[in-house]
Amino acid sequence: MDIEIRRLTSMTEDECLALAELLVITVDDGASVGFLPPLDVETAAAYWASVPEPSTRLFVAERAGRIVGSVQAQLATKANGGHRAEIGKLLVHPDARRQGIARQLMVAAERAILADGRSLVILDTRDGDPSNALYRQMGYVECGRIPHYARSADGTLHTTVFYYKLLSADAG
Ligand SMILES: CC(C)(COP(=O)(O)OP(=O)(O)OC[C@H]1O[C@@H](n2cnc3c(N)ncnc32)[C@H](O)[C@@H]1OP(=O)(O)O)[C@@H](O)C(=O)NCCC(=O)NCCS
Repeated sequence: MDIEIRRLTSMTEDECLALAELLVITVDDGASVGFLPPLDVETAAAYWASVPEPSTRLFVAERAGRIVGSVQAQLATKANGGHRAEIGKLLVHPDARRQGIARQLMVAAERAILADGRSLVILDTRDGDPSNALYRQMGYVECGRIPHYARSADGTLHTTVFYYKLLSADAG
């Protein structure tokens, strides 16, 4: 079934709840995206309600009208960072993975970053996660690792890998 990638500039209550459920299931599934399980849907919804803001480009992936993925491009707001953006909260529902949805979301985020006149993208992710293969495949360059960066629910401290990519308007 076709996937539609759509930018959300504001959020209905239903969209907020759908994104909250996506975050809860992704965190419960063991992802390292800033939250720890068990994450309740109210906390997740409060997070999403705070997301639509001028410096954030939020995209969702929908299949048959249901949100199955999301990504955010956070535009740097510092005076010296007007050429920079950070990718955050790339999430795909566990039932919808390995179908190219994350890649489509990343392409949409990169296009939005370029459209905003920005060329440097940064992101980070837990060492060993499948996301590393995705980012490398999309041309992100590893620039360092920090041990003990992110904690998981059992207390284990994980290494985080940092990446960057220089976007070019010619790259399409
Ligand atoms: C990482 C994540 C977003 C990937 O979503 P996805 O829609 O399954 O990814 P895609 O289908 O677009 O995969 C694109 C490429 O990424 C790589 N990839 C994705 N999942 C992979 C996996 N489980 N194992 C190995 N490579 C993987 C592959 O190179 C893949 O290309 P291919 O299918 O042609 O081999 C998803 O697994 C997820 O939501 N994980 C939990 C949240 C998370 O860790 N987000 C990143 C936080 S920084």
